Amino acid sequence: MRRGKTDALLSVRGVSRRFGGVQALEEVSFEVRPGLIKGIIGPNGAGKSTLFNLIAGDFPPNVGEIWFNSHVITGLAPHAVAALGIARTFQTTRLFEHMTVLENVMVGRHVRSRTGFTGSILKTPGARAEERAVQARAGEILDLFGLDRYAAHSAGDLAFGIKRKVEFARAVASEPALLLLDEPAAGLNIAETRELSSLIATVKNLGITVLLVEHDMSLVMNISDEILVLNEGRKLIEGAPRDIQRNPDVISVYLGEDECSSSAT
Ligand SMILES: Nc1ncnc2c1ncn2[C@@H]1O[C@H](COP(=O)(O)OP(=O)(O)OP(=O)(O)O)[C@@H](O)[C@H]1O
Ligand SMILES: [Mg+2]
Repeated sequence: MRRGKTDALLSVRGVSRRFGGVQALEEVSFEVRPGLIKGIIGPNGAGKSTLFNLIAGDFPPNVGEIWFNSHVITGLAPHAVAALGIARTFQTTRLFEHMTVLENVMVGRHVRSRTGFTGSILKTPGARAEERAVQARAGEILDLFGLDRYAAHSAGDLAFGIKRKVEFARAVASEPALLLLDEPAAGLNIAETRELSSLIATVKNLGITVLLVEHDMSLVMNISDEILVLNEGRKLIEGAPRDIQRNPDVISVYLGEDECSSSAT
């Protein structure tokens, strides 16, 4: 892999992505410095999830490069990106519904373990010792997230807010350097959102850098060190939350969205 000088943990350089006639992203560039929480906001269809899919290796950009830890990761498969230390959660929760909460979190852990999930299923001797270590660490993560009492529950039986939390815990269990959270507060009540906010802060304190896509403005403005605004596939502006909140271009993008949705109803 090529190397390139940058202090950033993640560097997105001139990335574009088209789907048929839709230009989902156009020449988007930004950097994420290690240890920070970077919020990404923008109206529906702005390209936020597409950006996450490009970083995570779901599909490549048509143009542009993505650098992680000074390596080009553009075009790598999702498992290779995950093994390098990028974990994610999805806009719609994707748990292994028939597995227990503990097993779900252990899967997250195995992404980074030596023998991997297949080795653990085959129960090779080396894998058994590692399995115990993985289980112990998964247990610690469940404690951290206040999920220990659900450890033996089937993931499919959980309430929505708990499922979201398990998915978050599973991503953290891989001990990523960078965590991509796509609308983690969607569908959560006020108490759950408050708890989510403090969990994101806890994760930052573990040394994990966070990219946070979120429509809940008070959550994203309060917790982010920097905000990137996307609109119609393009970067509108980047800056500190207090500057973004009073930026006239940002305000007009959101007012425009309100007018559209109110005229549509
Ligand atoms: N796999 C895909 N195939 C075709 N079109 C896609 C695909 N993914 C995204 N798009 C289109 O790209 C544009 C950006 O979508 P994206 O999901 O990235 O927006 P978003 O900012 O995440 O929106 P939201 O806030 O509603 O989640 C939209 O027009 C969407 O329909
Ligand atoms: Mg989205």
